[in-house]
Amino acid sequence: MPTTTGMKGGGYYDSHSHEQREALEAFLPWLELAVAEIAPSMPADVPVHMLDIGSSEGGNALHAMQRLIRAVRGHSDAPVWAWFNDLPSNDFNRLFANLFAGGHPALGTQAVYSGAIGGSAFDRLVPAGCLQVATTFNTLGFLDTRPDAALPDFILPMGPGPLAPRAGVSVSDDEREPFRVQAAADLRRFYAARAVEMVPGGKMLVQVFGADARHSTHHGIYDVLSDALLDRVEAGQLSRQTYRDLVFPIYFRRLDELLEPLQGDTALAQAWCVEQAASKEVRVPFNEALARDGDIASWAGRYTGFLRAFTEAILAAALPDDANRAATLEAVYARITQRLVAEPARYAFHYISIGALLTRSPTPYP
Ligand SMILES: C[S@@+](CC[C@H](N)C(=O)[O-])C[C@H]1O[C@@H](n2cnc3c(N)ncnc32)[C@H](O)[C@@H]1O
Repeated sequence: MPTTTGMKGGGYYDSHSHEQREALEAFLPWLELAVAEIAPSMPADVPVHMLDIGSSEGGNALHAMQRLIRAVRGHSDAPVWAWFNDLPSNDFNRLFANLFAGGHPALGTQAVYSGAIGGSAFDRLVPAGCLQVATTFNTLGFLDTRPDAALPDFILPMGPGPLAPRAGVSVSDDEREPFRVQAAADLRRFYAARAVEMVPGGKMLVQVFGADARHSTHHGIYDVLSDALLDRVEAGQLSRQTYRDLVFPIYFRRLDELLEPLQGDTALAQAWCVEQAASKEVRVPFNEALARDGDIASWAGRYTGFLRAFTEAILAAALPDDANRAATLEAVYARITQRLVAEPARYAFHYISIGALLTRSPTPYP
């Protein structure tokens, strides 16, 4: 069972995901070049299938797809199927609205067709051997299943960040282990499903938020969220048990963990060729705005909107299902903004984007 219902909908994710756009931009040129290389061999009468996995409301996904279609069109007139996937609970209405914003097809009129596919990234999504190009951005860290394991003293398996110590807040290695195992198993299933779906020579770009030796993308975000929740617990407005039960089942991988199944699993290693792989610290637009204008209140507001877009669904599901839920959510996010304004250094945010460009080899899978 998926561990999130998706991002905050109604256009909220699209308006608060400039940071994710930067994280995917860091890797997209690899795939544009790779697509331009294979496009001359795409016959003009055979459809090309391209799939984005974890598209959310589509703002960032369409941007990437437009760039890839341009890369095809430089060399081939083949009809293009642009497929967008997300969990069935995603706001697909918004995605379709984006596809035809202002009454115009966002992907152009030159033989481009689009469709949406509800389902999990870790399962099969399309028929065998039909995809030429696949992408996934900022998605594979959301675990497919919540392990049967507790995190009583923090809200994320990764544990608190180094700048925000608080008495009683911690995650031990033993507590984290079931989440690491789940993340590794998810990734193997992802690569295996795509190995069946992609044609030999097909190109796949896998990018996700992650961690390097210095920073992890979770630092700051989950500290301020945890602090805001604990403030409510200490004020008697939220039960300690709700905090103890709350888990964001999200895993922030290092690059070696992203590549491990492609080296450690013989069948996957034969199915995929790793063309390029890197871990990059990417631009964070709200940090850059702060550096320019020094406006802490604006920075805190944008930071809160960014983290609310991907945390609200999981937090809402964990709160008591009563008449106070909406007010509690508002109060938690308002408290987050207050805390960011008061102690910006405690919640410093760095975006580590990890990615790999893969080619499907001719070896059958499995
Ligand atoms: C942070 S958003 C990324 C959206 C977009 N790709 C971007 O980079 O801006 C993560 C998306 O992954 C989706 N997601 C989470 N688990 C998923 C799964 N198992 N299969 C497909 N999508 C999933 C969420 O619903 C959400 O829309």
